[in-house]
Amino acid sequence: MLATVERVSIAARARGLTKIYGSGSAVVTALDAIDFDVMEGEFTAIMGPSGSGKSTLMHLMAALDTPTSGDVLIGDTSVSALDDTRLTLLRRERIGFIFQAFNLVPTLTARENIVLPLRIAGKDVDEQWFERIVGVLGLGDRLEHKPTELSGGQQQRVACARALMNRPDIVFGDEPTGNLDSTSAGEVLGFLRRSVDDFNQTVVMVTHDAHAASYADRAVFLADGHIVHELRGATQEDLLAAMSVLYPRTTDPVPPAAATSSLTPPAGPASPASPPPSDDDNPAVYRDGGQAPSQPGPVDDDVPTVERSIARRAMLD
Ligand SMILES: Nc1ncnc2c1ncn2[C@@H]1O[C@H](COP(=O)(O)OP(=O)(O)O)[C@@H](O)[C@H]1O
Ligand SMILES: [Mg+2]
Repeated sequence: MLATVERVSIAARARGLTKIYGSGSAVVTALDAIDFDVMEGEFTAIMGPSGSGKSTLMHLMAALDTPTSGDVLIGDTSVSALDDTRLTLLRRERIGFIFQAFNLVPTLTARENIVLPLRIAGKDVDEQWFERIVGVLGLGDRLEHKPTELSGGQQQRVACARALMNRPDIVFGDEPTGNLDSTSAGEVLGFLRRSVDDFNQTVVMVTHDAHAASYADRAVFLADGHIVHELRGATQEDLLAAMSVLYPRTTDPVPPAAATSSLTPPAGPASPASPPPSDDDNPAVYRDGGQAPSQPGPVDDDVPTVERSIARRAMLD
């Protein structure tokens, strides 16, 4: 009799994945020859400070962007070998997306948003699966509401339902709790955790927040386009400790507002240590573990153009 070998399947892999933006003196190596495996049925967090390459890695792994060199495999499918039609099918059928800015269609109800990718693909809605997901997400009495009639947390739960409707091989989230208050963030993270535990969903989430990453099975740390560390089963404290070693400057404790002003010279120059502006370096979000500054506005006014176009490609291709 053959011995039973317990095998963990690889849901996706990056091989020598490199992304270079710009040219000449403006060249930025966002990812530098990354090798990275995503395990099936696991919740993986990709961590790192702003600009470390998290979004670039996720967009490449999710087949939303093309690498400069290297390749991504979804299961055994090499993304670089696919023509546009097959790429569209791969994104539509095998990948789910959750974005920071929800990216719901404002004119559609929650229910219509959730089933939109299936409608576009001309597929039938599995009503049992729909009811199950909507039930777990507590959206049952919100299905006929439009996004503007929903809280941010409810909108992101609708986006979670949409991402899982086609039973994708992998759900990718780029800072999915970045626009949420801590209670709503906890609900979304709890749902992602449950989707892994109950539905054996594979989830990859980009976050710079140790609290969010503590819901994951595995945290992979990026710095300057390299994977520099990895932890399994880490608590928030473990993650914060690792971050304080890996990213000493960006994880300095924030002094209270009063202390800040007393430490800041009144007429001093702007701090040279300030990171460049980006979608995810709001210090309140970065340092206190998930406090959102305010409710986001209507999606179309609020979403950066690049994210909007990526979201559109992910949803509507
Ligand atoms: N479209 C782009 N054009 C030029 N540079 C970019 C572009 N997108 C990202 N970058 C640069 O690549 C690096 C990694 O960015 P990104 O993947 O967005 O990091 P993160 O998500 O960790 O903040 C940064 O230096 C960023 O400025
Ligand atoms: Mg990012």
